[in-house]
Amino acid sequence: MTTLRDQPCLITGAASGIGRAVALAAGEQGAKLVLTDVDASGLADTLAALHERGARVLASRALDITDHAAVRAFADTVHAEHGAMAVLMNVAGIAIWGPVEQLRLEHWRALVEVNLMGPVHVIECFLPTMVAAGRGGHLVTVSSAAGLFGLPWHAAYNASKFALRGMSEAMRYDLKRHRIRVSLVCPGAVDTGLVRTLRIVGIDQNTPRVARLKQRFQRHAVSPAEAARRILKGLEKNRYLIYTSPEIRLGYWFKRKFAWPLERVIALIGRQLEAVAREQNR
Ligand code: NAI
Repeated sequence: MTTLRDQPCLITGAASGIGRAVALAAGEQGAKLVLTDVDASGLADTLAALHERGARVLASRALDITDHAAVRAFADTVHAEHGAMAVLMNVAGIAIWGPVEQLRLEHWRALVEVNLMGPVHVIECFLPTMVAAGRGGHLVTVSSAAGLFGLPWHAAYNASKFALRGMSEAMRYDLKRHRIRVSLVCPGAVDTGLVRTLRIVGIDQNTPRVARLKQRFQRHAVSPAEAARRILKGLEKNRYLIYTSPEIRLGYWFKRKFAWPLERVIALIGRQLEAVAREQNR
């Protein structure tokens, strides 16, 4: 797959951040878009922006990807009206962090339901039709740097994002004979709505110390448009692992070659986060 031109392309999470930016960039490249998100008004904004740019949208529907029946119904409609997709992009996701002893079952469940079962529902409802069509294609799943490294306060988020990596690694073998390529996107910091919707369990985010940490995150962050540019470049070059920030590529190389210094850096981040928790529990 070297170009998205004229390719039917499903994108989840299209109402905001990376998903919206990917939809705009793919639209500009001439993809035929099928868009979804749980946020109906954000999705309408994306559709308006696409319309303004003259992009082609085949279908869109506001739905919750944790709702298998809703994903199935959307897939049935899309397949009946437009046939098989050529590109599936699982972008939608949520973030909940927190010291592991603070995480409750509802937090683990929410992350697994949205970040893991969401993409599973999309794959189960859209991929067999793609395979049956026999025209090849591309399956793209947005994991995270947290799909590559275990990080402090990330136990549940890590679980959901590591799972996407395991699944994608396996699907590369299964889908090769169908000429369906697999890419795993591992973004570092991207300045999106996630910074606002991020939940940190047991931590008050309205303190100067947390605000400073968030500002540092945003300083390092790339824009959603830049992340989208790198994702589509990665697709064009048929990369399996796609990074949106060079430090994540470097960090993963370190992890494989020199785990010890990287572990020291991550432990240092952990100590900074513990200081936040200590300050709040005084
Ligand atoms: P965002 O919050 O701007 O966009 C996420 C979109 O997913 C939202 O439009 C939201 O409505 C949608 N969504 C959430 N739950 C849903 C559900 N149950 N059903 C359907 N749609 C749902 O965040 P962003 O940053 O664009 O996130 C996109 C992906 O990138 C996520 O999978 C996230 O984990 C991943 N990521 C983001 C990073 C960042 O720094 N922003 C870093 C690493 C990974």
